[in-house]
Amino acid sequence: MSKTSSVPELHRPRSREIFQQEQPFLSSGFQNVALLSGLVLERGDGCYLTDVDGNRFLDFMAGICVCSLGYSHPAYVAALTEQLGKLTVGSFCTPNRVRLLKRLAEVAPGNLSQTMLYSGGAEAVEAAIRLAKSYTKKFEVLAFWGGFHGKTGGVLGLMGSTFKQHWGPLHPGLYLAPYAYCERCPFKLSYPACGLHCLEFAREVIRLHTTGSLAAILVEPVQGTAGNVVPPPEFLPGLQQIAREHDALLIADEMITGFGRTGLMFGSSHFGVVPDIITIGKGMGSGFPVSGLMSTPDIMQAEPYSKPSAASSSYGGNPLAATAAWITLETIIQENLVENSARVGAYLLSRLLELREKYPFIGRVQGLGLLIGVEFVKDRRTKELLPDQVMQRIFRECLRRGLLSMNYTARYRINPPLVLTESQAEEGVGILDEVCAYVDRELRPHW
Ligand SMILES: Cc1ncc(COP(=O)(O)O)c(C=O)c1O
Repeated sequence: MSKTSSVPELHRPRSREIFQQEQPFLSSGFQNVALLSGLVLERGDGCYLTDVDGNRFLDFMAGICVCSLGYSHPAYVAALTEQLGKLTVGSFCTPNRVRLLKRLAEVAPGNLSQTMLYSGGAEAVEAAIRLAKSYTKKFEVLAFWGGFHGKTGGVLGLMGSTFKQHWGPLHPGLYLAPYAYCERCPFKLSYPACGLHCLEFAREVIRLHTTGSLAAILVEPVQGTAGNVVPPPEFLPGLQQIAREHDALLIADEMITGFGRTGLMFGSSHFGVVPDIITIGKGMGSGFPVSGLMSTPDIMQAEPYSKPSAASSSYGGNPLAATAAWITLETIIQENLVENSARVGAYLLSRLLELREKYPFIGRVQGLGLLIGVEFVKDRRTKELLPDQVMQRIFRECLRRGLLSMNYTARYRINPPLVLTESQAEEGVGILDEVCAYVDRELRPHW
């Protein structure tokens, strides 16, 4: 671990000074990557970020699946600038909101033609649960190990990780079952011989843990926070079947997988599933805080959710938010960014699989479109993950070479802006290759 890098430290005196100025006033608990990188940013364009010292970074994280159009997209800047000068506040109907809602209805799976707009992801997922309760008149929810749906009280208990520890008591009526994370199957079974045992197990969780009042099954079509984990094709349809057996709704949390990220407009479509409700956010506004839920007119009528003011919020769908989401969706469609995500994502995946051939510490490499998971392991047989200390070294080595990427933990998530080109994908892979060679040479002998 002591070997120094073969490339010099970034020259960033201004960044260091400004970063230090902020520290005494910034609350702890801030996002890890912002603290680890020490970045002080001046601007962004396309897939690149530039810091206050003029260093440029290729961005493979896009604010964690947020910046779908890339930075400073001209159409986005123009639409928001124009709206800023006209009207920014209120829930009254505006032309851009109408454009947005119509477009959403066109691209949505099945008959999910009605939308309620919010500002944050957790807020939208909580609202989806309220809608499911309103429709089914039941109150229990099943979610999954490894799942992430936000940090607010109503969804904290649906988080399938240790993150929620010390924040009890949690909301009652929330249950968890294992996700189909086949690489690390908790039942130590192998797909497809397992016959999707996890589905049978979920049935048992509902039968034995709940009080028989299941309102919804909540699932990410591809688990983001868990490491961009793609389940096998039968998993989502199986969950939909289980939801039906219980007269419960299937809520697909498409916060990460929505709007082209996976190479289709919505992640659930890869699995031939039309959920009853989808939650949307992140890449939806390409950086503007806008989220929402979509469902059928029938479900949307359920009370009390549908009563006047019962489902709305102060900022949801305000003129700026609606404009940001509308121009983002419009640009995704006009510039064929869903197709770009599929094409460049497939290329990037194939290049990462080549790296896997070269470096024994690369484990699972899996992805859909520009949502790719790469695991860094000590040993492919035991699948033991590399410690954070090594990963943070890898992260810094990438940063020095001009790549900003989420490889500060061993469940490495790659999710660049949807405008990424093949040559930019190649540039990123080139840096990863160089860093992996360095790790192989200098670090691997010591772990
Ligand atoms: C799948 C999913 N749902 C919900 C959320 C919560 O979103 P927010 O951070 O906007 O509350 C996230 C955030 O990462 C997410 O990945």
